[in-house]
Amino acid sequence: MESMGTLKRSNYCNDLNQTHIGQEVTLMGWVLRRRDHGGVIFIDLRDRYGLTQVVFNPELNAEVHAKAHGLRSEWVIAVRGRVSGRPDGMVNSKLATGEIEILVDELRILNRSKTPPFPLDEDVEVSENLRLKYRYIDLRRPQMAEALVKRHQACQAIRTFLNDLNFLEIETPVLTRSTPEGARDYLVPSRVNAGRFYALPQSPQLFKQLLMVAGMDRYYQIVKCFRDEDLRADRQPEFTQIDMEMSFITEEEIIEVAEGMINRLFQATLNLEVAPPFPRITYREAMDRFGTDRPDTRFGLELTSLTEVVKDCSFKVFKTVVEKGGMVKSINAKGCADFSRKDLDDLTSYVANFGAKGLAWVKMKENGEWQSPIAKFFTEEERKAMAATLGAETGDLLFFVADTPAVVHAALAELRLELARRLGFMPAGSFNFIWVTDFPLVEYDQEAKRFTAVHHPFTAPREEDLELLESDPGKALSRAYDLVLNGTEIGGGSIRIHQMELQEKIFLALGITPEEAREKFDFLLQALELGAPPHGGLAFGLDRLMMILCGRESIRDVIAFPKTQKAGCPMTDAPASVARKQLTELSLRPDWKED
Ligand code: AMO
Ligand code: AMP
Repeated sequence: MESMGTLKRSNYCNDLNQTHIGQEVTLMGWVLRRRDHGGVIFIDLRDRYGLTQVVFNPELNAEVHAKAHGLRSEWVIAVRGRVSGRPDGMVNSKLATGEIEILVDELRILNRSKTPPFPLDEDVEVSENLRLKYRYIDLRRPQMAEALVKRHQACQAIRTFLNDLNFLEIETPVLTRSTPEGARDYLVPSRVNAGRFYALPQSPQLFKQLLMVAGMDRYYQIVKCFRDEDLRADRQPEFTQIDMEMSFITEEEIIEVAEGMINRLFQATLNLEVAPPFPRITYREAMDRFGTDRPDTRFGLELTSLTEVVKDCSFKVFKTVVEKGGMVKSINAKGCADFSRKDLDDLTSYVANFGAKGLAWVKMKENGEWQSPIAKFFTEEERKAMAATLGAETGDLLFFVADTPAVVHAALAELRLELARRLGFMPAGSFNFIWVTDFPLVEYDQEAKRFTAVHHPFTAPREEDLELLESDPGKALSRAYDLVLNGTEIGGGSIRIHQMELQEKIFLALGITPEEAREKFDFLLQALELGAPPHGGLAFGLDRLMMILCGRESIRDVIAFPKTQKAGCPMTDAPASVARKQLTELSLRPDWKED
């Protein structure tokens, strides 16, 4: 093996073109592939920036050519040589350096590599576990590196944008107390305080509020948050928030800052204007029209209520559901009457996953005729009224679900997405933002038999709803807002409570006793009595935002070293067992299993 010696890299592997022909250059990088063509050896040399074709010709330099014979995939090399135009017909217009090649005078092998665990030069399916075990190999692939580059550009754009608006980037503790964001905490035992634990922050929520009490006025942080919850494609146990908070502020101003920041971020990464102000919808309307509080607004397929229209019909399923206080809702899939029996069966089993007991359907034939297993249950008049409510025309396919509102909304919201996927209504490169506002302040938790905060317990109620807190808490609306992009919640925030009396009242409504509140949040309550200004803010999920921006299916693809669905890291093998001594030092006494 050799060293770089006096060689200095002169260019990156995406730099060189016709204008450099004749220059002597030195490139360093990895061997992507080697091809032998009638004595001449071609290497595609790769670095973070791109590829350059490197040529070893026995007639030009026999010694270097002989050495190049030994090169294998992913070896690390340095080459010094001359930039030469490619012969006619060999120009590769798809490659930034496709006009040129390097005729090598000197080759140094800086490191060898074993055969990589998976090939990097082909689009072969590689199991994600293997990719995560050898993440540093996976990240050598251009599409993976590209996501990290975009993420970096996004963070730079955010910082510049917020710095220009007087925001201060301030760090908050990672070893702290529990912040209630609705997930389980990751706990860290304290060695010097036997039997006591830190919690890793689910978000910097309370610290950013305290920074407002401290007079910092405008705070932001690109910060890791930790939540021990069931993982999904868009959830990681540790993830990153773009977190911010402002004093003496209203919802409108916060939304304006957030929209400006998102626009700047898309400009910086995709050179795209996303044209704020974004549309807004209330929580109530989102549920009515889309069955979810994170509507994908790239397409229609909206939900329509038929509860009124069918309440007296003779189809027992619909009638009894309505009698019991449930609802009947429908989606009109325009022009989809050619769906096969198998399509319909598949969709029926699909919605069953979300609790629907059935999926009634109607194919609209000529002259308003119905082809449907439920046609016989409705009079001509009822059929007409239903079709009119749904704007149904020949060739349309109508779907119906009857159940409790929760089941109807869950099933039809998912059916809507599944239809859109089948119909190709989710094209790459379209970005539809929508703010969801006027959330309920609290919701009833059937299991815990008490109200819990929809956002978090520090969110302010609307002033006009203060009285409802005692009479009918479920009806009170909050001053919270979420930003939804293509059906994913990418951020959320609220105006906070800044007065002690109101905070205590909310804790009471949430079934948190004054003693409990003092126990857990005494520091916050004290601060609210020591000159807390009105304040509010929000936090974006950076990973989710980057996932959508980069057109990926999972947030793991935009995180350098993510965890698996089981919250593990196949590369480092974390979480790992520890020595008994470490546990006893921490005053932990587990059920100890001998190997
Ligand atoms: P919230 O809990 O809504 O609000 O979190 C803000 C945003 O963070 C993202 N997010 C996640 N991303 C990946 N993996 C996870 N496990 C995960 N959990 C949440 C979402 C979400 O919109 N303190 C408040 C914000 C505030 O009120 O200012 C908070 O944390 O995109
Ligand atoms: P049945 O009379 O049970 O065979 O149901 C007739 C049709 O109604 C079938 O297509 C079922 O899928 C559908 N169906 C049954 N229950 C429901 C429901 N709760 N909501 C919507 N459709 C239903």
